[in-house]
Amino acid sequence: MVVNLGKGVIDAALAVWVLATLPCALAQTTNAICLSAYAFLYNSRGQSPCLIAAYAGGACNGGVFDVPALDVGEQYVGPSTTLVDNCQCSSIFYSVISACGVCQNQTIITWSSWDTNCTTVYVSVYPEAISTGTAIPAWAYVNVSVWLFNLFPSRRPSHVSTSASLS
Ligand SMILES: *[C@@H]1O[C@H](CO)[C@@H](O)[C@H](O)[C@H]1NC(C)=O
Ligand SMILES: *[C@@H]1O[C@H](CO)[C@@H](O)[C@H](O)[C@H]1NC(C)=O
Ligand SMILES: *[C@@H]1O[C@H](CO)[C@@H](O)[C@H](O)[C@H]1NC(C)=O
Repeated sequence: MVVNLGKGVIDAALAVWVLATLPCALAQTTNAICLSAYAFLYNSRGQSPCLIAAYAGGACNGGVFDVPALDVGEQYVGPSTTLVDNCQCSSIFYSVISACGVCQNQTIITWSSWDTNCTTVYVSVYPEAISTGTAIPAWAYVNVSVWLFNLFPSRRPSHVSTSASLS
């Protein structure tokens, strides 16, 4: 089964889960394109945060995970009750997928909203072995209380508020 990340419009009441449409995806996939201004979020292998998120999410699904591109006004939402898994309940996954949303010039939800459907949350640890085909940037391991754009204050985009990641 392909696990496809949920995304929704900004109004949480209208958030929808988009189920997999690819019948036979066999890998970590994404069609999301990052703006060039966010190249500093790429890892040492030249992978975008969106592709890194696909690898990270795939660790709980036999390596198969798709991160769909966001349309204007959409954002990634947390896992649904039926598709929740340990990977998506890690703050590291949240940090990487949030970076993926930001690099597409879209907005993000807070960690405390993201983890609504998680029974166990993993802060700054990854609960599964991540594929050797990727590398998780150090910034993804930082406690979400001091999240990404607090680490890169001069690069914090105007569409991400300073408190966006705080719990
Ligand atoms: C939690 O799961 C419900 C039902 O599956 C879903 O409607 C909701 O969007 C999920 N919450 C988040 C934050 O993703
Ligand atoms: C990013 O989104 C904002 C609206 O939130 C828009 O004004 C701006 O032009 C966008 N920037 C790029 C490079 O697309
Ligand atoms: C993350 O930061 C918060 C607030 O400072 C703290 O309460 C929490 O224990 C930290 N978590 C970890 C895993 O370090």
